[in-house]
Amino acid sequence: MSFLLRATASLRSHFARTAPSSWLRGAGAITLALAAGLASAHGDVTPQPVDTKGLPELGDQWRDENPYRANTEAVKIGSSAYNQNCARCHGLEAVSGGIAPDLRLLDSECASMKDQRKKNMCVKDIDEYFLGSVRRGKVRNGAVYMPPFEGILNQEAMWAIKAYLETRREKPL
Ligand code: HEC
Repeated sequence: MSFLLRATASLRSHFARTAPSSWLRGAGAITLALAAGLASAHGDVTPQPVDTKGLPELGDQWRDENPYRANTEAVKIGSSAYNQNCARCHGLEAVSGGIAPDLRLLDSECASMKDQRKKNMCVKDIDEYFLGSVRRGKVRNGAVYMPPFEGILNQEAMWAIKAYLETRREKPL
């Protein structure tokens, strides 16, 4: 355990020093293995179900765009859902410590777009990418960088998390 702590701490500081704003692809497997070890040592890996009763129900069809944008109830539920399920890798309040991508930057490429129509399309594309990432996780060549959340979180919880992350954008739209 102390090895894991030390190794993770040193990797984290390494990432903090060297990582540019975007995630260093390819460097994830080892950090994730360490992060997972660390998390389980803290008894903290069980995904937490999320109570989404206060939100309009979305039915069985997966949406391709966030139906809860700027919905304050969704932001509240999303904030707690995020902190219970995502923060251990993506950082408290979405401030990444370098173990996983910084989700405040998720749609920052859209922010600089002047054409409103293009900007809306950009945000929608990122919505789809977000939902796919959360449903299927990030698994490559048998390595689980991020576990799939489909079957654990319902669609309402996933979009609520996105609504929360939209309040944490580094570059507001
Ligand atoms: C066990 C650690 C872990 C957990 C828990 C986790 N993630 Fe991730 N996530 C990662 C890693 C690592 C990556 C980068 C994977 C890669 O290399 O493609 C990632 C990638 C992503 C991406 C794509 C980011 C990008 O810039 O391409 C999104 C979106 C995402 N995660 C959202 C979430 C959300 C929302 C949750 C909670 C419901 C969550 N993740 C839980 C580790 C995790």
